[in-house]
Amino acid sequence: MCLVGCGLFGVRALAQQGPDWPDWAYGFTEPLSGDSLVAPPCPDRSRAIDCAYPPVEVPDDGIKLTLPGTDRTFTRNEAWFNYGPADWYPQDHPPMPAVVANGRQEDGLRPCALCHFPNGQGKSENGHVAGLPVAYFVQQLQAFEDGLRRSADPRKANTNEMAMIAAALSAEEKQAIAEYYGSMPYRQMVRVVETDEAPQVRSSRNGLMLPLEDLPPVPLGMRIVEVPEHPEHTEIQRDPRGKFVAYVPRGSLAAGEELVITGGGKTVQCGICHGPDQRGVGDIPSIAGRTASYTLRQLWDVKQGSRVSPIMAPIVTNLTAEDMLYISAYLASLAP
Ligand code: HEC
Ligand code: HEC
Repeated sequence: MCLVGCGLFGVRALAQQGPDWPDWAYGFTEPLSGDSLVAPPCPDRSRAIDCAYPPVEVPDDGIKLTLPGTDRTFTRNEAWFNYGPADWYPQDHPPMPAVVANGRQEDGLRPCALCHFPNGQGKSENGHVAGLPVAYFVQQLQAFEDGLRRSADPRKANTNEMAMIAAALSAEEKQAIAEYYGSMPYRQMVRVVETDEAPQVRSSRNGLMLPLEDLPPVPLGMRIVEVPEHPEHTEIQRDPRGKFVAYVPRGSLAAGEELVITGGGKTVQCGICHGPDQRGVGDIPSIAGRTASYTLRQLWDVKQGSRVSPIMAPIVTNLTAEDMLYISAYLASLAP
């Protein structure tokens, strides 16, 4: 059932993209403009797949690829198959519920494993679902379904698709999937580097940033550039053990630590609720070691009101985009 902000277009009105808008966290290299490709219209009760950017069909080249530590081989198209993507490391997870592994093709419901991987590690442009408290996981699915969790950036189609996926799941499925992903630990996947320069990047249509390795680095400025450590493994093969590197402005870690640990006079100590190491307490999720882009989007979405959270909203009221960048960089550097 949809309670608030149900038409996804409603969210667009919230997006007042000023000069401090953190496009990098949403996976875009340019600010929103009249020329921007925006997400397909995605009214409530859409088939989830119809909310995604239309697929680009690539002929199967028949070339079997592999990854370290597995005997399995898949072609690029097999690895990407919408209704049963590659499971490179079956030893890394318990048997998957059917909807996690295959989704439901007849309903246009793509499987959780496609974006969050069988092990729940996920990626910067979607999210990290391993090890989340079961109650929090189910609550977030409900928030997506009820229109209470949307992206503040109208280009971010995959969050719209996520919302429609949540709406298509039964209560029993939500619970079973939450227990499945909750049974696995989330493992550290981000290496944070303070620097003045970072690689030039392009963005996949879904917002995965990829380094342009032939081009020289450029000044970083007030951004985080977060890219896979091994772009081809992550982008082409969907490696669920893939890691990320986050290039952050110098001084970010100390500034972020100050805000997180003391509140810096602008907010309260995160550890009061998220625990002394930010690894979560009870039903409150861990915020340690997630990709910086993911964390920043959550803080920014809460501030814009597209992610409705009565608890987190007062926490972010006085935080600027710059403060959130520091916080996201610091949190990404912590062990989960
Ligand atoms: C097409 C890609 C895609 C698929 C498929 C997908 N998700 Fe997601 N998921 C996302 C995106 C994008 C987000 C939100 C990222 C953001 O808010 O910035 C997300 C977020 C989530 C979150 C919130 C995590 C948190 O820490 O709050 C949960 C829970 C979740 N997904 C569960 C699922 C489940 C269960 C399935 C399968 C039934 C699924 N997802 C399938 C893309 C996907
Ligand atoms: C008063 C308790 C409280 C405090 C203090 C608090 N949080 Fe939270 N936070 C929550 C709860 C509860 C959630 C789960 C979402 C919800 O209930 O809306 C959450 C969710 C989040 C999320 C989203 C996690 C995800 O997986 O999507 C992030 C990021 C976050 N908090 C960051 C912070 C930061 C950074 C601080 C400190 C500046 C902070 N929180 C302080 C209670 C708190």
